[in-house]
Amino acid sequence: HHYVVILAGGIGSRLWPKSLMAKPKQFLDILHTGKTLIRQTFERFTPFIQLNHIFIATTAEYADLTHEQIPELPIENIIREPSRKSTAPCVAYISMKLLEKDPEANLIVAPSDHIIMDSAEFTKAVETALDFSAHLNALVTLGIKPLYPNTGYGYIQYETREVASDIYKVKTFTEKPNLELAKVFLESGEFLWNSGIFIWRVKSILNAIEKHQPEMYEVFDAERDNFNKPEELEAIKRIYPLCTNISIDFAIMEKSENVYVIPSSFGWSDLGTWNSAYENLEKDYLGNAVTGKHIVVIDATKCMISAPDKKLVVLQGLDDCIVIDTKDSLLICKKDKEQEIKDYVAEVRRNF
Ligand code: GDD
Ligand code: MG
Repeated sequence: HHYVVILAGGIGSRLWPKSLMAKPKQFLDILHTGKTLIRQTFERFTPFIQLNHIFIATTAEYADLTHEQIPELPIENIIREPSRKSTAPCVAYISMKLLEKDPEANLIVAPSDHIIMDSAEFTKAVETALDFSAHLNALVTLGIKPLYPNTGYGYIQYETREVASDIYKVKTFTEKPNLELAKVFLESGEFLWNSGIFIWRVKSILNAIEKHQPEMYEVFDAERDNFNKPEELEAIKRIYPLCTNISIDFAIMEKSENVYVIPSSFGWSDLGTWNSAYENLEKDYLGNAVTGKHIVVIDATKCMISAPDKKLVVLQGLDDCIVIDTKDSLLICKKDKEQEIKDYVAEVRRNF
C-alpha cells in the first residue's frame, strides 16, 4: 500500500533569475551535479516504491517537462493541476484519487526541490514512518535539527518522550515564523525544522482536511465519483477554481492534533534560496561559490556567483553578494536580503 507523490508545481521565485516560470528550479541542476532536482527526487524513491505507485503532481504547463525528465514514469502518473493553488489542494486531490483505488493507501508526500545526502538514512526514516502511519490516524513529518533562525521553514515543537522507536508527538507546528519568533524557537532547543516530507494514510489526511478545511473537502467530495475515469479532467477543472490557495502546512499541519515527528539526519537541505545553494557548493579560498567556467573573481569574498559557461564575468570588491547572470537577466543583491527576491520578482513582473 505504499505510494509517493512528488510535488513539483512551485515556481521557486527566490532562485530567480535562474529559476523561471518557464522552467522552475525543480527542473534544473542548480548545483551542477549532473541531475536535475526532480530527477534526484524520483531516483530517491525508485529503490523502495514500485514505479506505478510513484506520482508527480504539477501544473499542466510543466507536464511535458516532467515527462521529458522522467520518461520511464507512466504518463497517467503525472497529475496535472489546472492552476497553481499551493500544496493543500494538490494533496487533497491525489489523496482522494488514491482512496478510490486503495482505501489503505499509505502516502509519502515529497517536495521536489531538496537535497538529501544520505539516501540509506532517508529510506530508513521513511520506512519507520510508513510502519507507524499504516495503522494509526497519524500525520507524520520528518524533522531536521535547525541550524539558524530561517524564516522560510516550519518549526516543530515536540514532546521529549518517544511514542514509538524514533517517533515523537508534536506539540506545536508554526509555519514560517517571523525572525524574532524563529530566534526564540532556536534558542529554546525544543524545535525542529519541518522538512516538508510527510507520511500518512490518505484516509488520515482526508480526515484532517475534512476537519480543518471543510469547504475544500466538500468541493473534492462532491466530485469523488468522477475520479479515475475520463470525467476526472473536467471534474478537476471545476474543483480548482473553488479551492483556496493554501499550503498543507498552514491548512493542516498547524491545526492538527495528531501530528508526529521523526527527528532525522540524512544531510537535508532545501534548495530554496541562493544562500542555500551557496551553502551546498564548494567555496574558493576567499569563500566564493562559483558556478560557470569563465568567472574571474578579484578581491571579493563570500559571494554566490553564477553565470552561463561561455560568459566572461569579472567581479571585484564585492562582499557577501549574490551575483546571478543568465542569458536574459542579471541579479545583484546582498546575501542577507535574499528572502526579498520573491517580492522584487513579483514587482518586476507587474511592471514589465
Ligand atoms: N503540485 C504542486 N502544486 N506543487 C507545488 C505547488 C502547487 O501549486 N506549490 C508548491 N509546490 C511544490 C514545490 O515545487 C515544492 O517542491 C513543494 O511543493 C513545497 O513548496 P515550497 O513553495 O517550496 O514550500 P516552502 O519551501 O516555502 O515550505 C515548505 O517546505 C519547507 C522545507 O523546505 C513547508 O513545508 C515548510 O514547513 C518546510 O519547512
Ligand atoms: Mg521549498
